[in-house]
Amino acid sequence: MKILLLHGINLNMFGKRDPAQYGTVTLAEIDQRVQALGIELGAEVESFQTNHEGEMCERIHRAHEEGFDAVMINAGAWTHYSYGIRDALAILKVPIVEVHMSNVHAREPFRHVSVFADIVKGQICGFGADSYLLALRAAISAV
Ligand code: DQA
Repeated sequence: MKILLLHGINLNMFGKRDPAQYGTVTLAEIDQRVQALGIELGAEVESFQTNHEGEMCERIHRAHEEGFDAVMINAGAWTHYSYGIRDALAILKVPIVEVHMSNVHAREPFRHVSVFADIVKGQICGFGADSYLLALRAAISAV
């Protein structure tokens, strides 16, 4: 099983950015934890991060051809307003799991909206770095 893990805008700053919301874990550590759990559960996880919306859309377009079984995405702030990324995700035919470190519903009102909400299989938020591990289990079970 092959799973693509997509990280959006500003997520490369995890570890340095707003530790009250995101803790001190880095994106590289998150990727390692997800990959290790993937090995345990029989899934190969490929990660990709970008701060450029067009680049994220193009990565999603390539994923359409690449035979991934599921996609996990934390699009960061794009979650709340990017119809471009929503439209790219909507092209995919495999289950998509939306993930957030923080509980977006307990934060500012603009974070309560996800423009992906109705096209993803489900959302996991609020468990810090463990959100990613829960999302991986959800993605595998959705496959
Ligand atoms: C986030 C929540 C978003 O609202 C925010 O813009 C982020 C990170 C999270 O993982 O909690 O960049 O997606």
